[in-house]
Amino acid sequence: MPNTIDTDTVRVTIDGQTLTVPTGTLVIEAARQAGVMIPHFCYHPKLKPDANCRMCLVEIEKVPKLQTSCSTPVANGMVVRTATTVVNDAHKSVLEFILANHPLDCPVCDQGGRCDLQDFSHQYTPTTSRFIEIKRVFQKEYFSPLIEKEMNRCVQCLRCVRYCDEVMDVKALAPVGRGTMTEIKHFGSHELDCEFCGGCVQICPVGAITSRLSMYEFRPWMLKRADTICTYCGDGCRITIQAKANQIIEVNSEYGVGRNNGDLCPRGFFGYHVSTHPDRIMQPMIRRNGVLVTATWEEALEYVAETCIALKLKHGPQAFAGLITSRCTNEDLYVFQKFMRLVIGTNNIDSSARYGQVNGVRALRRVQGTHRWTVTFEDLSSANALLLVGTNVTETNPITGLRIKEAVKKHGAS
Ligand code: SF4
Ligand code: SF4
Ligand code: SF4
Ligand code: FES
Repeated sequence: MPNTIDTDTVRVTIDGQTLTVPTGTLVIEAARQAGVMIPHFCYHPKLKPDANCRMCLVEIEKVPKLQTSCSTPVANGMVVRTATTVVNDAHKSVLEFILANHPLDCPVCDQGGRCDLQDFSHQYTPTTSRFIEIKRVFQKEYFSPLIEKEMNRCVQCLRCVRYCDEVMDVKALAPVGRGTMTEIKHFGSHELDCEFCGGCVQICPVGAITSRLSMYEFRPWMLKRADTICTYCGDGCRITIQAKANQIIEVNSEYGVGRNNGDLCPRGFFGYHVSTHPDRIMQPMIRRNGVLVTATWEEALEYVAETCIALKLKHGPQAFAGLITSRCTNEDLYVFQKFMRLVIGTNNIDSSARYGQVNGVRALRRVQGTHRWTVTFEDLSSANALLLVGTNVTETNPITGLRIKEAVKKHGAS
């Protein structure tokens, strides 16, 4: 039997644990697989390595200097140490430099309790600083009605800038200035003008970019979490609703989870306030003498039942038609059609799920025999050619739009 060398995987030893990982895996990711968390600021698995913060330094046997684990791929037989005295000292030094300028305003920072800088500082640094110089101060700048910017907290990791460019392809942000005085800015003298996906808010590891919709309202441990699916469009993004006292405080998404893989659009990220908007009908209403008056659920259901019985007796079941929004869950849609068919006795049922895109549905049926999607998101992002007909996909299905942008960027899809 011929000797074959497996070039698809490599073996690496991290803090004494040996594991096999795919060739090309970064040391920081291999460590994660071994259950070792290497501290980092600028690294994010969604972004190309930038290695600008130096927080992720590790020792690699036979390599004379410490290496950035976020930009170093594992090699076969590599031995990595992440917690030696030299490595710990390097991590402490990076933190000491960051904290030399950081305002340490955790008590009034919305990131407090889930901040990487806070966590790493607790883990590595002494409670005193050797720096006596005056800290840098950036002039407070109004950013946008939705996003708050506090540059004194920025660790200059550029994750926000890179996300906005690499993932969103919007390029609304840029670093301006040099050294510690580097500041994240948007373009122009007006307020931020972008797609408001909230990605920069989610990806900032500290409290430098936060949401204005929930400012000063919570600490993470006060929030109840519930995983669900955004119902605004058919992309079906996985979201986590966070609520305090039955009020939605924020919506998040998580890298590696759901079809959206951590990305959201403005409706998903900022649109949750619609649930408590004063215009939202929160109570049943009955029209009496031409005027809508609020009623209890018992009164409303009784009124509907009596009216339905009377109309059915007088005009028969075919006098009824049921219309239901496609925003309801499949379970609600199912119960509705059962009610119309079995209780009322009619098949006159329709939903915007059908007539909303009726032309598209008919065309798809003719072309491919079904109106359902026959491709996955992965098919889209790996496609070489895409045919878009009469759509602004970024507006209607933003996450599908991101996959199309990915195809264009990665393979020059046309
Ligand atoms: S909200 Fe989205 S589009 Fe706007 S600046 Fe942030 S990342 Fe860019
Ligand atoms: S604003 Fe946040 S994400 Fe952007 S560079 Fe500063 S710390 Fe990094
Ligand atoms: S793309 Fe936006 S609206 Fe559509 S499911 Fe995702 S977050 Fe919701
Ligand atoms: S995380 Fe590696 S250099 Fe920033």
